[in-house]
Amino acid sequence: MEERFKSADRPETSEGKQYHIDLKPGDLSPYLLTPGDPGRVDRILKTWDEGKILSFHREYKSATGKFKGIDISALSTGIGGPSLAIAIEESARIGVNTFIRVGTTGSIQKDISLGDIVIINGAVRLDGTSNQYVRVEYPAVASFEVTLALIEACEELGYKYHVGIGASTDSFYTGQGRPGLNNYLPSFAKEIFNDLQIANVMNFEMECAALFTITSIYKLRAGALCVVIANRITNEFEYIGEEKAITVANYAVKILSHWDSIKREKGKEYFYPGLIK
Ligand code: URA
Repeated sequence: MEERFKSADRPETSEGKQYHIDLKPGDLSPYLLTPGDPGRVDRILKTWDEGKILSFHREYKSATGKFKGIDISALSTGIGGPSLAIAIEESARIGVNTFIRVGTTGSIQKDISLGDIVIINGAVRLDGTSNQYVRVEYPAVASFEVTLALIEACEELGYKYHVGIGASTDSFYTGQGRPGLNNYLPSFAKEIFNDLQIANVMNFEMECAALFTITSIYKLRAGALCVVIANRITNEFEYIGEEKAITVANYAVKILSHWDSIKREKGKEYFYPGLIK
């Protein structure tokens, strides 16, 4: 059936169904896992106690369910800032307030190996999308609560992890210092790798800058963990560790939901370790 949308400014139906993600208020849990890959949504769903696929429109595949008694949802964002920004805008409009990116990444540090988890607490804004929201000096920072929950989840699960700053680009190839077709690599793209490496940036990926910038502007919470599938120093590439990343994200939601209930009970806006003493 053809759907009627309210206006060009607000492409949503009268019941609040959003144009791109094809979801309405109440469809998603406030806790949302946001992988880039739509296929990862199916694999996330398999790890929950119960759940179902909700919709699949363009790059946006969604599922909702329960993990250890907690309502949880997942929505793929596609690759890069532009499609991620749409996913954040539309899912926030229907009630999501906490986002966890479950991604893959390339390490640019010697001690960060294939299969390791990186928890990204801030992003170098080499993307274009975040610049369309706010001036360049605005930092792309993760929620400290989501970051802490991701750390606690890795500790509980015994997974090797690193915490720090990542770099988000709009180009997987030249933007991350990889040669393009016929070895095309302009001088600025050659320099980027070394410049970031000596500044202790952990990794390259393509979504955190937009995710952290947009959620900070809107006072929403976001954090990110990625599993390392490329090591740019040893020049290895292997698609491994996706299940590990999904497990960490699920556990982080369980932990956050627990902390949020303590905050509510104690009338606190922010979580801090003394609250669970
Ligand atoms: N994703 C990226 O953006 N870069 C990599 O090297 C691997 C995954």
